[in-house]
Amino acid sequence: MSRVYQPSDHVVEKSRLSSFDKYKEMHKKSLEDPETFWSEIANEFHWQTPYQPGNFLSYNFDVNKGDIFVKWLEGSVTNICFNLLDRNVRNGHGEKIAYYWEGNHPDDYSRITYRKLMDLVCQFANALRDSGVGKGDRVSIYMPMILETVVCMLACARIGAVHSIVFAGFSSDSLAERLSDCKAKVLVTADGAWRGEKLLILKNVCDEALEKAKTKYNHSVDLCIVVAHLNRVTACGKLPDDVKTLYKWHDRDIWWHDLVEGQSNICPPEWMDAEDPLFMLYTSGSTGKPKGVLHTTAGYLLYATATFRYVFDYQEKDIYWCTADVGWITGHTYVVYAPLANAATSVMFEGTPFFPDNDRYWSLVDKYNVTQFYTAPTAIRALTKFGDDYVKRHNMKSLRVLGSVGEPINPEAWLWYYNLVGSGRCSIVDTFWQTETGGHVLTSLPGATPMKPGAAGFPFFGVEPTLLDENGKVIEGPGEGYLVFSRPWPGIMRTLFGDHERYQKVYFSKFPGYYCTGDGARRDEDGFLWVTGRIDDMLNVSGHLMSTSEVESVLTEEPRVSEAAVVSKPHPIKGESLYCFVSLNDGAKFDASLVDALKKLVRSRIGAFAAPDVIQYAPGLPKTRSGKIMRRILRKVALGDTDIGDTSTLADPAVVDDLFKNRPK
Ligand code: WT7
Repeated sequence: MSRVYQPSDHVVEKSRLSSFDKYKEMHKKSLEDPETFWSEIANEFHWQTPYQPGNFLSYNFDVNKGDIFVKWLEGSVTNICFNLLDRNVRNGHGEKIAYYWEGNHPDDYSRITYRKLMDLVCQFANALRDSGVGKGDRVSIYMPMILETVVCMLACARIGAVHSIVFAGFSSDSLAERLSDCKAKVLVTADGAWRGEKLLILKNVCDEALEKAKTKYNHSVDLCIVVAHLNRVTACGKLPDDVKTLYKWHDRDIWWHDLVEGQSNICPPEWMDAEDPLFMLYTSGSTGKPKGVLHTTAGYLLYATATFRYVFDYQEKDIYWCTADVGWITGHTYVVYAPLANAATSVMFEGTPFFPDNDRYWSLVDKYNVTQFYTAPTAIRALTKFGDDYVKRHNMKSLRVLGSVGEPINPEAWLWYYNLVGSGRCSIVDTFWQTETGGHVLTSLPGATPMKPGAAGFPFFGVEPTLLDENGKVIEGPGEGYLVFSRPWPGIMRTLFGDHERYQKVYFSKFPGYYCTGDGARRDEDGFLWVTGRIDDMLNVSGHLMSTSEVESVLTEEPRVSEAAVVSKPHPIKGESLYCFVSLNDGAKFDASLVDALKKLVRSRIGAFAAPDVIQYAPGLPKTRSGKIMRRILRKVALGDTDIGDTSTLADPAVVDDLFKNRPK
């Protein structure tokens, strides 16, 4: 039995939801009467056309009853950008800081008010409109963590264009595939950025990607907007006298500052239907091809707003900081949309936790008096390694809520976070959610719910989790099974861009009537939910989801490789890591140069974060008589655990000995 931590007085005193009973009562209400619950939040926003009573929610979650659909507040008309900026300025928040921006180098920092942000967004929105971008057009974004990224997202939202951000750590191949899949009209990037002492020339990745989009997928992007970032920040390593020698310039390229020059800071918003698309974001799929998760307008706004308010317990004067990159869903919802919808003040950080030293996070908590700090278990584990002194050097008394996201947090990391970072008096919110869910779906709530180290906790308002066994039977009370949801909350994805079939198949066909997360979960005697990890062929490396088949198909591109199988191996910092087995074609030799070539190939096809930890030679792979690879056995080999269990279904049991013999030392 793990210990239960009750919220401390420090948290409860301030909390807008100060008891477990209150949470339970509100959760019950949110399920019994969604309209009353959500319309209270909807009423805070501006609606050009308010929703019509009776049209609050309609949906079908059952593939046997027809197409899957989810519609919230159908018929209402609004604009998210208007609600995040103009509405807040009108409500007297014009001079409030929206973001404290902190650069990679500690000498680089700035701040921006709501009014100034609105001006910049309007100017850029006008520039996009003048460039021929309109409602429904896709704008791809490949950017570092700078204010222009937020400006660009909100400018898209203002004119009804759909942004598609690609994390600026993806390779040019990955970017090319995503640019062409969504048929992007424009690409927005920066010349480059520093990550620690490493210089990334983003413009070059974009140039390669644009070229590949044209030759490989026959998709041309005619406009590439480039932020000149390198010359305005402190160099953290060697840089040529003229940064412009680092990349080439093409006819399609235009500097951001040239494009916005002379643009008015008044820009009428495009009024959007509740279910009009807001943005799309690619996430890995178990078949390899990325899935363009699509989120829409009204429901996403309500859900982002509510989760932020209750999960982080954000209050008027708080300073909130989410360390996630905007390239992931956490950055979309909890760096941009949700904090701005709540008129919050946030920190936006361009750099890494390790530069110039391993206390950068803690020094920023101290510098900005951060009240809510939201990061990933992989970062916490990496920082734990450097010892407690880095934390103790800084005054972090401002903290009240500590968040975790991306993967299950191991109790050891949880306790370090709780005791050392939070001085034993902050609430930890372990937020379980997905690109697809739009916002938190399982979590603890500061002040209200008790916590157990490693447990995600309880459903957010409007969310009804269910555990199912393999046969689709509902598991009541304590037990473990597939984590599914039996009804839509406002922030759930509506479709996969251009592929509604796949949406229905991936998320709704395994258990008709339910949205299937692809994760397993356990409910304990006290009703806490523990997410146990993926149950499909996906793995989670440092909080980045990827599919084993995606990596396998890259490995087999190498001419010497005949077959590849990838499994996940637990990793002390990354959570999971990639352990790859490769069989070779006749005559090919397994040596260091091949291993090197394969690692490079994966980096260049997918991105550096997908680089395999181990590549092992496999003269044969363990297969069933029907030819299915038995990954269960490969996982044991990866661990060096010879207790492999039943092998009676193996076609050739001898391959297993070879696999153990070939384990790299
Ligand atoms: C997958 C979704 C949602 C933001 C970041 C990842 C895993 C996420 C938790 C958590 C246990 C978690 C799940 C999920 N996951 N948060 N608190 N506890 N597992 O977004 O890339 O769409 O990944 O991340 O496996 O399905 P994503």
